[in-house]
Amino acid sequence: MKILIKNIKTIVQANPANNVKVSGKEMANLPCINDGWISINGDKINGVGEMKEGMPAESHYDHVINAEGKFVFPAWCDSHTHIVYAGSREGEFVDRIKGLTYEEIAKKGGGILNSAEKLNNASEDELFESARARLHEMAMNGTGAVEIKSGYGLSFDGEIKMLKVIQRLKHHTDMTIKATFLGAHSIPLKYKHNRQEYIDLLINEMLPFIGYEKLADYCDVFCDRGFFTVGETDAILKAAAKFGLIPKIHANELDYSGGIQVGVKNNALSVDHLEFTGDEEIKALLNSHTMPTLLPSTAFFLGLKYAPARNMIDAGLPVALASDYNPGSSPSGKMAFVLSLACVKMKMLPEEAINAATINSAYAMGICENHGAIKVGMRANLFITQAIPHYNYLPYSFGSDLINKVIIGGKIYKG
Ligand code: NIG
Ligand code: FE
Repeated sequence: MKILIKNIKTIVQANPANNVKVSGKEMANLPCINDGWISINGDKINGVGEMKEGMPAESHYDHVINAEGKFVFPAWCDSHTHIVYAGSREGEFVDRIKGLTYEEIAKKGGGILNSAEKLNNASEDELFESARARLHEMAMNGTGAVEIKSGYGLSFDGEIKMLKVIQRLKHHTDMTIKATFLGAHSIPLKYKHNRQEYIDLLINEMLPFIGYEKLADYCDVFCDRGFFTVGETDAILKAAAKFGLIPKIHANELDYSGGIQVGVKNNALSVDHLEFTGDEEIKALLNSHTMPTLLPSTAFFLGLKYAPARNMIDAGLPVALASDYNPGSSPSGKMAFVLSLACVKMKMLPEEAINAATINSAYAMGICENHGAIKVGMRANLFITQAIPHYNYLPYSFGSDLINKVIIGGKIYKG
């Protein structure tokens, strides 16, 4: 289908000179075109311009959208989610209100292990249908690309079932999906007194199977206090590298765990969470290829401290934002809310938050060559807002649904 969007008040993230990643001071720059048009042919953007310079003839298009007064954004890239899961965990939500911490709940066999039990009892079809519904909800909220992790199986069969569900999702949506193997999400109860046996299972049985069957793009480890140590993380990432799986890891959510440093050392594409990031961690990230990825809706939902985004950006680092959509620590995939939290709680400017959820999060999922910006040749993943006064209005009006139309892979998903 050929689509023309005309009279656009502002095209946000239009023709950025650098669509690989934006760092430090550069993050406050957001290239925009006022009074513009965009043309789409098939699944790609094939024209972007200003109305005053003339636009292609409308008669060449199957569909013409008048976006007067409206903003067009590249669809969000959500580079960190766990949307394949069974059931929900609102009981733990209440336990936390009553005073238990996330770690206390995990130690009692709740948390990730609670989801693992539910997942191992669910069929592949049930998991596929519920994850598909979550993806749909995310698309309606302007997300066009999603990274999805395993990690609630914690057994050979459970982990492979999850990765197969992610493969099925890839084939049933126009959204761009990347799969991450997170067998090292937690030590299953069965291996509580013999954690090395579980790590051996991961390294010697799960990883080779996943590698040969090409079931994952990335490998994750929850490198934090009470979960996996730096040494265990290093061993798992090195084993994954033999199968071409690049690291994207959970680090420094609960403590200065050394996770950031071991991620950088293993050339991680991203290290995520980072609530505990000090000077040493920032130093390790500077001059690396690793994208620091912040998940403020998790800090919000668990009542944790927020990652020091300001220190990181002021030190010259790039920062990406993602939802961490999962049943325990962030049961929401609404990226607009993530941006509002980034602005309000981490003092990121709206321009920085938008760069973080488009170009930088596309980098964090390895798709920046054709996602995260409005530019000729990019995948036609974008959304059109309602009539709004400024792009700042989007993070400002937290909780509102300002997204009028969503186009993913050149197809109209909403509107
Ligand atoms: O990213 N921190 C580790 N893993 C998930 C939470 C998973 C869960 O509680 O189910 C996270 O927050
Ligand atoms: Fe996570």
